[in-house]
Amino acid sequence: MLKIKNLSYLVNSGDDDKDILRNINLDFLKGKIYVITGPNGSGKSTLVKLIMGILSPTEGKIVFNDKDITNLKINERAGLGIAYAFQQPVTFKGLKVKELLNIASNKENDFNTLCDYLSKVGLCAKDYINRSLDDKLSGGELKRIELAMVLARNAEVNIFDEPEAGIDLWSFENLTKIFKELKSTTIIVSHQTKILEIADSVILLKNGRVEKIGKYSEIKPYIHSDTCGKLRGENG
Ligand SMILES: Nc1ncnc2c1ncn2[C@@H]1O[C@H](COP(=O)(O)OP(=O)(O)OP(=O)(O)O)[C@@H](O)[C@H]1O
Ligand SMILES: [Mg+2]
Repeated sequence: MLKIKNLSYLVNSGDDDKDILRNINLDFLKGKIYVITGPNGSGKSTLVKLIMGILSPTEGKIVFNDKDITNLKINERAGLGIAYAFQQPVTFKGLKVKELLNIASNKENDFNTLCDYLSKVGLCAKDYINRSLDDKLSGGELKRIELAMVLARNAEVNIFDEPEAGIDLWSFENLTKIFKELKSTTIIVSHQTKILEIADSVILLKNGRVEKIGKYSEIKPYIHSDTCGKLRGENG
């Protein structure tokens, strides 16, 4: 459904090229949950930015539903059904919450539907539906509204980079419940055990390469081993 073939991302850092990602091959299946994990700097955010088209690969291909999307722009990929939730939520000044959700789902929703999206992310609809998206909303509220927008958008592929950031006061249980309920192919960058546990497949990146793929129980020993080695490796 979504395939990554021999994907590499090199940057020119002074004298020589630095591989941020090297020769990544992945096959994401419809409706499954994938969690990308690995040490800081292993290339997780770079990988999801390449999938969304925020960055362009130096080598390799990205194929979505048999179409080569490697050279498509972010909005073209979004139009095909790939959605990306930003690590820092975006504010759309002047819009109300209900307008944002209607735009995301591309239709006028009735009160009950909007209420359903908001209650799933732990917000009481009557308090938020007519709120303006402005700096009076807290970071956590904005993050939840962004998640409600993801639900309303109903994309075929949903990508999240560290979605737990900024929602400390809200239990992970709710977040993991949302991921499990999404019908999409879901790709989540995370370090959190509770999120790793719900993955159909965990992809462990180390030094820009795929080290292991499997259920969390199989990958766990590799995630927690050799922390000093990883740091030494990254520092050359
Ligand atoms: N344009 C660039 N030039 C040089 N180095 C870069 C560039 N972009 C990314 N990097 C480096 O590539 C590595 C991977 O970055 P990336 O943001 O993908 O890591 P990450 O796995 O998401 O880490 P974290 O867990 O800290 O979010 C880092 O060492 C980063 O400093
Ligand atoms: Mg990152």
